[in-house]
Amino acid sequence: MPDLDLPQRQSTDALMLTGFWYRAVPADRVHRNQLYKATLLEIPLVIGRDRIGQPFALRDACPHRGMPLNCGRFDGENLECGYHGWQFDVHDGQCELIPSLTPDQNLKVDRIYAGSYACEEQDNFIWVFIPDPPSPGAGFGPRPEAPDAAPQIEKFTNKYKLAYLQAEMPVSIDHGIIGLMDPAHGPFVHQAWWWRSQHSIHEKKKNFEPIPNGFRMSAHTPSSNSAPYKLLRLYADADSITTTIDFVLPNIRTETIRAGKYWFSSLTTVTPITRSHCRIDVVAAWNLFRWVPFVPDLLKFVFAKFVEQDRRTMELQAEGLKHNPHLMLIDDADRPAKWYFQLKAAHLESKRTGEPLKHPMSGRVTLKWRS
Ligand code: FES
Ligand SMILES: [Fe+2]
Repeated sequence: MPDLDLPQRQSTDALMLTGFWYRAVPADRVHRNQLYKATLLEIPLVIGRDRIGQPFALRDACPHRGMPLNCGRFDGENLECGYHGWQFDVHDGQCELIPSLTPDQNLKVDRIYAGSYACEEQDNFIWVFIPDPPSPGAGFGPRPEAPDAAPQIEKFTNKYKLAYLQAEMPVSIDHGIIGLMDPAHGPFVHQAWWWRSQHSIHEKKKNFEPIPNGFRMSAHTPSSNSAPYKLLRLYADADSITTTIDFVLPNIRTETIRAGKYWFSSLTTVTPITRSHCRIDVVAAWNLFRWVPFVPDLLKFVFAKFVEQDRRTMELQAEGLKHNPHLMLIDDADRPAKWYFQLKAAHLESKRTGEPLKHPMSGRVTLKWRS
């Protein structure tokens, strides 16, 4: 059939990918000798810090009879279940004690494990590795280790500021992600007198290229129609400002802006909490305006406003999505969303066959849209 200019219909699968690191909780919310409840990919977790501040993540269910471990007692080293007092090492989940055993009963206590997850602290967040296949949650062996370290923000100088923002969205990970990479909603959702309005819409042309597990919007001088960029160019006394935006599976968007000796870098993730709920975490690092009073606060305010506008939009969208409509993806504005779905499918296919991932992009592509 000839390629009619009709939008392509697409349904989301809301499938959550295992075998990756996910941001679980902002690091400053988890204190020493304390427990914190979290959910990732519908897995209940108890996250905490031991006596020396080292974070850990366990499945929030006792391997004995499923009691949530967050209701137990934690002494900064071992966690004792509140039901029958079994004790577990918080870092590897290994059972240390079963109080009901008599001296002549030789049940191998140390062969029992509570479900435990690799856990790292990175750039203000505690990250948890969700293995593939997902661990059964409890069992008779140590947990699988993560193949690599948790992702971190790229930084270009030793001194910088770091801040985070988060927002929960009542939509699946797919909607959270394609909302994040969507170039056409800006003028409608993020209107503000100091930023831009519907009247500033103009045609844009951007180059994209494939990168492992994702794609990159190549370095360029960003839209000159926004006041903050004009200000930045003036402040940094730089002829050019380059921005690079990458998306990589399962859920990571990084943005790097460089202007002379100044830089701004962010790592945003969309984390699946449940099939129908996700959370956006933006962590930014920068050496710009470090000494100018109020500017970091101003930046944070502007960012918070943006994220809140996105959150509100997705909350409204969730109403419309209740009846599971198909999506319509059009060229070129929704091409990144199409790549996302294709990458996800290619990832699952490569897992099934054991073959390397077949990237949906064969080379550089220029996309055009008005925004
Ligand atoms: S349920 Fe935890 S010790 Fe029995
Ligand atoms: Fe947005």
